[in-house]
Amino acid sequence: MPTDSRPIGIFDSGIGGLTVTAAIRQALPQERLLYFGDNAHMPYGARSLGEVRDFSVAITKALLAEGCKLIVIACNTASAAALAAVREHWPDVPFVGMEPAVKPAVEHTHTGVVGVIATVATFQSDLYTSIVERFSQGVEVLHQPCPGLVKQIEAGEFDTPRTEQMLRGWLEPMLARRIDALVLGCTHYPIVRPLIERIVGPDVRVIDPAPAVARQVGRLLHERGIAARYVDGGLEIRTSGDPAAFASMMERIGMGRLEVRGAHWDSGTLRFD
Ligand code: DGL
Repeated sequence: MPTDSRPIGIFDSGIGGLTVTAAIRQALPQERLLYFGDNAHMPYGARSLGEVRDFSVAITKALLAEGCKLIVIACNTASAAALAAVREHWPDVPFVGMEPAVKPAVEHTHTGVVGVIATVATFQSDLYTSIVERFSQGVEVLHQPCPGLVKQIEAGEFDTPRTEQMLRGWLEPMLARRIDALVLGCTHYPIVRPLIERIVGPDVRVIDPAPAVARQVGRLLHERGIAARYVDGGLEIRTSGDPAAFASMMERIGMGRLEVRGAHWDSGTLRFD
């Protein structure tokens, strides 16, 4: 089969989608990745689904103009807001989105109670409602929005007393109701996974769908015959925020020192600098 060296486009409101990017890089090191963090509009979770959908459509357009062969919406909020719309708009482009991993949580539980944490907008979406309807199978699914947590993470407050206090406020009531699985329904949250695990303790399984999403990307590339072979793909990063700040956050989450380039919004159109 021929090699297809066009990049995979990946986007999020900020650094959250890097947790998914890291899993894709690990599973598919030969693929070229082009990542965009929309820090100018972060956080998405406090916005209306319509607004997030418009950003997502414009970002998809910009990534396709760069020649991307597949798009990963590495953001639960943007997936909930826009996955159906972009699939309809570009029926020939393969898209992979994030959805809260309710199914593996339900399969794991012994107490019959599981928890999901995500943004306010994600919980308002039809996608979330339909996932719970499809996969809960009599298990009680508690949902807890975490307003402000994405901003804490983007500010680098991964393990500060304030972030711990916020998380305890959301997680302790769910622990009191005996959850034994907790779904990370926002791609920023795995960045604070060590703190979350410390709070919930060893009896609660914390579920991050990123490795499953990376496998799904690999499957789609093979099905469509558009996988890359042999070479180290590389990772190109863009942000609509401050490139230097983004680069230092990437270093803090263990992705090394990489060049980050800018991008800007121009009356609803995204342009890469
Ligand atoms: N990483 C995004 C998600 O998965 C965060 C959304 C936000 O910016 O609030 O939902």
